[in-house]
Amino acid sequence: MVILTANNLHKRYQLGKNNFVHALRGASLEVVKGEMVAIMGPSGSGKSTIMHLMGCLDRPDEGHVQLSGRRVDNLSGRELTKIRGKEVGFIFQGFNLIPTLSAADNVSLAAEYAGTSRRKARDAADAALADVGMGERLNHKPSELSGGEQQRVAIARALVNDPRIVLGDEPTGDLDTETSDEIIEMMRKINEDNDTTFVLVTHNPEISDACDRVIHMRDGQVTDS
Ligand SMILES: Nc1ncnc2c1ncn2[C@@H]1O[C@H](COP(=O)(O)OP(=O)(O)O)[C@@H](O)[C@H]1O
Ligand SMILES: [Mg+2]
Repeated sequence: MVILTANNLHKRYQLGKNNFVHALRGASLEVVKGEMVAIMGPSGSGKSTIMHLMGCLDRPDEGHVQLSGRRVDNLSGRELTKIRGKEVGFIFQGFNLIPTLSAADNVSLAAEYAGTSRRKARDAADAALADVGMGERLNHKPSELSGGEQQRVAIARALVNDPRIVLGDEPTGDLDTETSDEIIEMMRKINEDNDTTFVLVTHNPEISDACDRVIHMRDGQVTDS
């Protein structure tokens, strides 16, 4: 079952009055439910841009995006926000945790944003943190955690609303090799245990080796998948 379709996506970023970057030039791809897929390609080839469109963070200038059989490229900003909160989990290179909040609060906030009551959000956060091996670190702030632990919290945050798909942009980019291998192994286990779909933009061959499939991008297009 195809869970995500990107069809002939074009995206231009305006730089000046008559100056723009054509970041995507007809990029197309499909992701099947339960797959763990890597997207690889040179810097500037459009990987982050296509992730943003697939994750409902932005809209294409041309082309279609379907998530779970529903077109999302033509939705309003408000509708995109709603879908993004419930159906997509994000993992970023820099973890992007809120520095003043504990691990538990960082994760439960994501559940509250998606409409879960405060109490249920806290329970869901505790469970998600336990799943990533952070059950003993609930009240630690990001500055009191190692990089690998922070990325585990970020993964718990990505999973707390039981999303259909998890998108990662260089999820091991800021981690040393050993920690990076632990995080990859953990994502693979979550993928296998829960059938969660992962799409991971990466330069890391350890990630692409762990994935079911690699999609290559160049100059704003998917060259093979
Ligand atoms: N917000 C933006 N404004 C202007 N140009 C952008 C923006 N985001 C990306 N670009 C440009 O679009 C192209 C593709 O960028 P990106 O999708 O980030 O590539 P990648 O993630 O593969 O490195 C690059 O030339 C980049 O400079
Ligand atoms: Mg990028």
